[in-house]
Amino acid sequence: MAWTRLLPVADLPVGMARTVRVGLDDVLVCRLDDQRVHVLEDVCSHDDAPLGDQEIEGGCVTCPRHGARFDIESGAVRRSPAPVGIATYPARIQDSWVEADLED
Ligand code: FES
Repeated sequence: MAWTRLLPVADLPVGMARTVRVGLDDVLVCRLDDQRVHVLEDVCSHDDAPLGDQEIEGGCVTCPRHGARFDIESGAVRRSPAPVGIATYPARIQDSWVEADLED
């Protein structure tokens, strides 16, 4: 695994999701509680809208364009109109940073 540092965990309040740019792509970093973080691609599978900074509700993030919802752990669709889930990446908190393995 190749871990990439995304942001200090102190910069991401519990219950929030935040967009972080990595190279030419954006990922969505989600902090569920003090121990658990999740990282997803920041592109909706319906019409490619960025999901963007937001509050996590019911373990899901919501696309601001048409309202699709995605489970932050699995990337699975929880509400249409998204046709398929979005990618997730292994994530962890290490040395007070959120890190993810962004390799395929
Ligand atoms: S672009 Fe996300 S729900 Fe349509």
